[in-house]
Amino acid sequence: MNLVDFDIDTFLRDSWQRKPMLIRNPWDAWSDPLEPEELAGLACEAEVESRLVIRSGGDWAVEHGPFSDNRFAKLGATPWTLLVQAVDHHVPQVAALLTPFRFIPNWRIDDVMVSYATEGGGVGPHYDQYDVFLIQGAGQRRWRVGQHCDANSPLLPHDDLRLLAEFDATGEWLLEPGDILYVPPGIAHDGVAVGDDCMTYSIGFRAPSRSELIADFADYLVAELEDDDRYTDPGLTAQANPGEILAEALARLHAMVTEKLADRQAFARWFGRYNSTPKYPEIDWAPEAPVSEQDVRDLLASGATLVRNPASRFSFVRQSDAVLLFVDGECVECHSETAAFAERLCAEDKPSAGGGDGALISQLINNGSLALDHGS
Ligand code: SIN
Ligand code: CO
Repeated sequence: MNLVDFDIDTFLRDSWQRKPMLIRNPWDAWSDPLEPEELAGLACEAEVESRLVIRSGGDWAVEHGPFSDNRFAKLGATPWTLLVQAVDHHVPQVAALLTPFRFIPNWRIDDVMVSYATEGGGVGPHYDQYDVFLIQGAGQRRWRVGQHCDANSPLLPHDDLRLLAEFDATGEWLLEPGDILYVPPGIAHDGVAVGDDCMTYSIGFRAPSRSELIADFADYLVAELEDDDRYTDPGLTAQANPGEILAEALARLHAMVTEKLADRQAFARWFGRYNSTPKYPEIDWAPEAPVSEQDVRDLLASGATLVRNPASRFSFVRQSDAVLLFVDGECVECHSETAAFAERLCAEDKPSAGGGDGALISQLINNGSLALDHGS
């Protein structure tokens, strides 16, 4: 499925990170990639993260999965919604929904959450920290968007939901199958199912917080530092008040920290690995017995093709003499033909192996990031 009635440049210029945008069925041929029963099945599996939000009047109850087979049949007429995280990691047809959104860099893409709701169901008025494209699957949902929110926005008291106490609606639309609502971070939104069997696919993005960047990069740097790497002050002169921490001393102390934090090479290597680290490491594609370079060459020669694990995030950093490939928390330095192959791997879900390096391919297969498709 492709987005045909959608101008990427206009969207990026006017709406991305700025304001909500309704995109009426822009697909060449929209068809639902998932049935409600398949979603319910995933929510019963231990390695899948899921939530059930039940609304009775003004009260909201949240239950966390995995759920038992008969949980949904027992819910009756009360409005409810089931939300399942990272469905793209499990269902290739849902992973394919990301392809039209690749005009956003891979490293910014998080995952596809899928929800199912009965008449009146929803998660209540809230805001998210991330950009999202809300694609209407089966059924209909009424979406309202509202004010800019932040950490000071008043919330209703609730242990498990961050429900906004106030909502100043600025737009309201009824979404039909194939329609898309883009909502930037921090914008209040509220979607309520109109009729039963309402499915919503949320293409979610990630935006690291400054605190996680500093904390994790600092941990990475600290792991490499020696205890005898210390402050020194040869040429110390006597000072008038021994209690004063002089500006020169502070400047040298501060430089000990900032020189390390300013290391761009170290930052690139750390960030690529950090950002590609799997969120759900239980989804393991690694073969039971490792494959050798020779196995890979033989299988490719006999017609097998490469497929990326939909749960793996591929990205690269270009350097003057190399490409650093990042996948599943690993960094592989690639040169010449292998570098060109690494770039293809990041651009295509089913990359062609031509000229690809047997050593890199077998390493990625053994890590569970790639697999060989033998056709059927
Ligand atoms: C939903 O699918 O019901 C909620 C999606 C969202 O508001 O982020
Ligand atoms: Co939301």
